[in-house]
Amino acid sequence: MSKSALKKSNHESRIYIAGHRGMVGSAVWRALETKGYTNLIGKTSAELDLRNQQAVIDFFNKEQPDVVINAAAKVGGILANSENPYPFLMENLQIQNNLIDTAHKTAVSKFVFLGSSCIYPKFAPQPLKEEYLLTDSLEPTNEWYAIAKIAGVKACEAIRKQYGKDFVSLMPTNLYGPFDNFDLKSSHVLPAMLRKFHEAKASNAPVTLWGSGTPMREFLYVDDLAQAVVFAVENILPEHLYNVGTGTDVTIKELAETIQSIVGHKGELVWDSSKPDGTPRKLMDSSKLRSLNWEPKIALHNGIKLAYSWYLKNENTTS
Ligand SMILES: NC(=O)c1ccc[n+]([C@@H]2O[C@H](COP(=O)([O-])OP(=O)(O)OC[C@H]3O[C@@H](n4cnc5c(N)ncnc54)[C@H](OP(=O)(O)O)[C@@H]3O)[C@@H](O)[C@H]2O)c1
Repeated sequence: MSKSALKKSNHESRIYIAGHRGMVGSAVWRALETKGYTNLIGKTSAELDLRNQQAVIDFFNKEQPDVVINAAAKVGGILANSENPYPFLMENLQIQNNLIDTAHKTAVSKFVFLGSSCIYPKFAPQPLKEEYLLTDSLEPTNEWYAIAKIAGVKACEAIRKQYGKDFVSLMPTNLYGPFDNFDLKSSHVLPAMLRKFHEAKASNAPVTLWGSGTPMREFLYVDDLAQAVVFAVENILPEHLYNVGTGTDVTIKELAETIQSIVGHKGELVWDSSKPDGTPRKLMDSSKLRSLNWEPKIALHNGIKLAYSWYLKNENTTS
C-alpha cells in the first residue's frame, strides 16, 4: 500500500464531503478537521441538489476539489424503501452518478464512495466477504437502494480499472452515533431502542420490542468509520472495495439490555414475538481493511454511552 500525496504535507487539499450534515458526513468532517485539514467543503442539499447534473458540474468547476467523499444518499428504513422504490433507486443513482462522473472528468485525485452491507446477497455466507458481491439475489425490501449502491461500487471499480484513478468504495456495517436518526418511524434499531428506553424511563413503563431478540447484528460507532475514511483518503488502498465493521456481533436482546442499563430504565422489557425477526445474522468480514492497519477503537458499551449523551444534549432538536 502506498501513501498518497495527502499525507502530512497536504492538509490544505480541497476536500469536498458530500452529505456533510448527515451522520456519516459530519463524523468525517470532524475527523478531518481534528487531523488539521483546513480546506473542507460542504453544501447542504438546499444549496446544491446533487440530483442536478449541471449544478454539480458548475460546483466542481468553481470549487475544484482534490478529494471527494460521497456520504450523500437518500437513506431510509425498510418501510420507506418498500413504499418508495423509484426514488430510492433513481435519486441514489443520480446523486452518485453526478458525483462520480464529474469527479472523473475533473481534477479529482481521490474519490471515496460509501455504501452499506445491503449490497451483499440475502443468503450469502456469514461473515460477509467482499467477493460475495453479485453472487446471488438481494434482500427484496431494499433491493432498489442496494442496486443503486452496487452501481456506484462498479462505477468506481470501472474508473479505477480503465483509467488507473484512485476511486475506492467502503461498505460500513450498521452505524450509530451523533446526528443519528432518532425518529421512531424511520430510525434503525439502536437509536430507536435508545429513544424508547429514554422515553419510558421517567415512569419506568414497560418497553416492547419487535421479534424474539435472538437475531445477531454488528454495530460500528460512526467516528470509527470516519477514521476508516481518513485512512482511505491518506493512503492508496490496493483494492477497490472494503468492508468496515467491528468483526463482532451481539444479539438484539444483548443490545437491548445494554441500552436499558445505560439509559437507566428499570421497567419491564417485553418481546413481541408476533413481529418479524428479520435475517438471523448479519456480520461483515472486515479483515481486508484491518490487515492494512485500520481498526475500530470504540467498544459497543462505550459507544452507546457516547451516543446517549449526544442524544440527551440534542433531544429537543432531533425528531
Ligand atoms: N446510517 C447507517 O447505519 C449506515 C450504515 C451503513 C452505511 N451507511 C451509508 O452512509 C451514507 C450516509 O448515511 P447517513 O446515515 O449519514 O445518512 P444521513 O444522515 O441521512 O445523511 C445523508 C446526507 O445526504 C444528503 N443528501 C441527500 N439527498 C441529497 C441531495 N439530493 N443533494 C444533496 N445532498 C443530499 C443530506 O443532505 P442535507 O442534510 O443537506 O439534506 C444528508 O446530509 C449512505 O451512503 C449510507 O448508505 C449508513
